[in-house]
Amino acid sequence: MTLNNLENLPPGSPRFAKIVEMLSGHLKYLKKNGINGFDLPPDAVQKIARLSAAPAAKEDIENPKQEKNNHEKDIKKLIEECRDCRLSDENDSRVIEKGSPNAKLMVIGEAPGKKDIEAGAPFSGESGDLLNKIIKSINLEPADVFFCNVLKCRPQANRSPEASETAACMKWLVMQIKIVNPEFILTLGSTAAKSLLNTEKPLSAIKNRFHDYNGIMVLPTLHPALLLRNPGKKREVWEDMKLLMEAIAEKR
Ligand code: URA
Repeated sequence: MTLNNLENLPPGSPRFAKIVEMLSGHLKYLKKNGINGFDLPPDAVQKIARLSAAPAAKEDIENPKQEKNNHEKDIKKLIEECRDCRLSDENDSRVIEKGSPNAKLMVIGEAPGKKDIEAGAPFSGESGDLLNKIIKSINLEPADVFFCNVLKCRPQANRSPEASETAACMKWLVMQIKIVNPEFILTLGSTAAKSLLNTEKPLSAIKNRFHDYNGIMVLPTLHPALLLRNPGKKREVWEDMKLLMEAIAEKR
């Protein structure tokens, strides 16, 4: 994402200021986890200061729902235009999200597959069908949940994403989390858990318990694609789902 992309956001700087606010939340989180930031060239710092100093748009203050819609539209446009890693050369379209932007539960997978690209929505294939059953098993409707992935482009032949690709795409996920502002996040598989929680620990060491991401309860579990290959693992996911159900009931 370049500064020029941001400068082109309609209706101008107030939305940019919001995006800066979203990213700074993630930077604080990284700092807490031992990453102390990075250097920006002086002209970029000046540009950010100038754009961020503008007052908030009147319609955004008066109508928070409209504000949420505007931010969602802005982010989608930026993602569609993103060319920040080589996956953008291999993909004409992006798969961004599915479900409710007002969801209490956000589910994060790894990357779209072929079916998801065709449908234009995450989890449109077989693992999505199983995921819907898992969501229903905890008494939620898939339409009330927000689904997305760490990567918005599809790595060819379903290869695992490279670290540089997940790093380049994380900013979009960070913004999606900030906009949806869920109470709970369920991560599926190791890429989503490790990217969000900024850890190199194996999934087996971090699953089956809650972690904190900027005040949001994050539960890592196994990816449904693994369950399709290895149905014997379903019990482990059910243990995680029981934890999630209890935590949701406690917050009600
Ligand atoms: N489809 C998605 O959208 N995400 C995954 O992680 C797998 C399949």
